[in-house]
Amino acid sequence: MHERKTLIVGNWKMHLNVHQSSLLVHRLNERIKTHRAIEVVLAPSMLSLQPLSLQIDRRKFKLAAQDAYFKDEGGYTGEVSFTMLGDLVEYAIVGHSARRLYFGETLETVRDKAAAAVRNGITPIICIGETKQEHDEGQSRQVIHDQLTTALMNLTSRDLDKVVLAYEPVWAISTFDGILAKPHEIDQAIKYIRTQLADLYGQRAAEKMLILYGGSVDDQDIRAYLEVPGVDGALVGAASLNYHQFAAMVDTAYQIRIRA
Ligand code: PGA
Repeated sequence: MHERKTLIVGNWKMHLNVHQSSLLVHRLNERIKTHRAIEVVLAPSMLSLQPLSLQIDRRKFKLAAQDAYFKDEGGYTGEVSFTMLGDLVEYAIVGHSARRLYFGETLETVRDKAAAAVRNGITPIICIGETKQEHDEGQSRQVIHDQLTTALMNLTSRDLDKVVLAYEPVWAISTFDGILAKPHEIDQAIKYIRTQLADLYGQRAAEKMLILYGGSVDDQDIRAYLEVPGVDGALVGAASLNYHQFAAMVDTAYQIRIRA
């Protein structure tokens, strides 16, 4: 089996101004230690990327944009392109369910953004996952299939080395009522995703692909998620805003890796 690294990604969403972002990085820096097999990725707001790029120790933290536009430049008022982000970030979250649900991103938008990220040397973290209704109606596999195949459509198999996937069942995102995906459900979804990848791009590509899990991951349950076979890390929202929790999650990933 290919030795894949572990990625712990903090998606800060629309939280924290520049000052608060800087403070959080400062606190994380005191608590997180580097490990060659673990990459800690921070996705602050667009506004905080520039100052944080000057602040961070790049051996310890990588930066991610939460989104960007798929055209490289032009009359697209209000947008920021992947081209503009090229020097600042190594990663960009693409197709997050919030973008699909609130901002009308279609399968094709996500496809174009994934291609734009790769074209500009940025690794897209492509989010896929079914909604509650799709889940309840037994549509999960179809939805995952459509999201996956469309998102990767304009990429070559060589490009896939520069792609990360995140399986995020929408019904398990930021749930504060204890509705969580169970490890066996995640296991099945991730196996399905790798089978699809193997069909499309071959076994080797499927085994190399980093696949993260996301959906209400916190310091209490991250171990159970990271121990699901084929899960290569976590995409963490709410709990990534708490430095105690986020540092503890990175530490858990570290413990799992040194034991492996
Ligand atoms: P959550 O967010 O950890 O708050 O559920 C995850 C995400 O939206 O990526």
